Amino acid sequence: VKDWNGIDQVVLRAPRGASARASLHGGQVISWRNGRGEELLFTSSKAIFRPPKAIRGGIPLCFPQFGNCGSLEQHGFARNRMWVVEDDPPRLRTGESTGCVSVDLLLRPSEEDLKCWPHCFEFRLRVSLGADGDLSMISRIRNVDGKKFTFSFAYHTYLSVSDISEVRIEGLETLDYLDNLCNRERFTEQEDAITFESEVDRVYLGSPDVVAVLDHGKKQTFIIKKEGLPDTVVWNPWEKKSKSIVDFGDDEYKQMLCVDGAAVERPITLRPGEEWTGRLELSAVPSSFCIKN
Ligand code: BG6
Repeated sequence: VKDWNGIDQVVLRAPRGASARASLHGGQVISWRNGRGEELLFTSSKAIFRPPKAIRGGIPLCFPQFGNCGSLEQHGFARNRMWVVEDDPPRLRTGESTGCVSVDLLLRPSEEDLKCWPHCFEFRLRVSLGADGDLSMISRIRNVDGKKFTFSFAYHTYLSVSDISEVRIEGLETLDYLDNLCNRERFTEQEDAITFESEVDRVYLGSPDVVAVLDHGKKQTFIIKKEGLPDTVVWNPWEKKSKSIVDFGDDEYKQMLCVDGAAVERPITLRPGEEWTGRLELSAVPSSFCIKN
């Protein structure tokens, strides 16, 4: 299908009614709905669905740079580029299940991209929806250059929540984190679970491969599973910062929380011919469900 700017989107539908929608703008998942048709990802009412702006919501891909520590634009250029559908991608390794419906997208650097980041790569993204409605994303980044390169990465996942004051994250307690609000200074998490009363912008280091986001308002828990992604970024802009973001409503911080599977602290290096895989799987379950790491 096409959006109102004429940009192609791919819609995936699972047998029991769940669906997902990915835009070729940014290779970005912009919708994920459960079997009852409820939207599970946040998208701002002020989002701009036209490059060169990244879409404010869904799951932007931050590559080849997360954040603004580096020479590139904030969060890299992959989220602002037009991707293509790849009909016959190279096979995934065994064990990387693909869900029941999926689409494969591909990004290669343009001449312009090579001027600001002079490295030839192929970025393959498979977006899949399982029969039970789980959303899975597999990113494969291959060095097709003659020299090595280094990148950081994040699935910048905007979860839709009932009210940020009703939400807590489990799985990050006792971890060290870099605080973007304090020049990336390193701290150790002291709370039993992470709750929200002000702006948060942190990179939790060496986080477990399963993290839960409990939403008491919706009585729903997001289970976030990751592989190949050592860090978890947590972001909520809160009241003051929200007002300074042009494509974000003043009160929308109450309805969203970004929890990203990421590789930030230790960037990934690929030698010529090497490929890296980073995988994210999201499910939304009734809150009575409980995880043990
Ligand atoms: C977060 C960063 O992950 O993304 C924040 O840590 C940033 O510092 C936020 O403000 C949103 O970034 P952007 O570029 O999409 O406005």
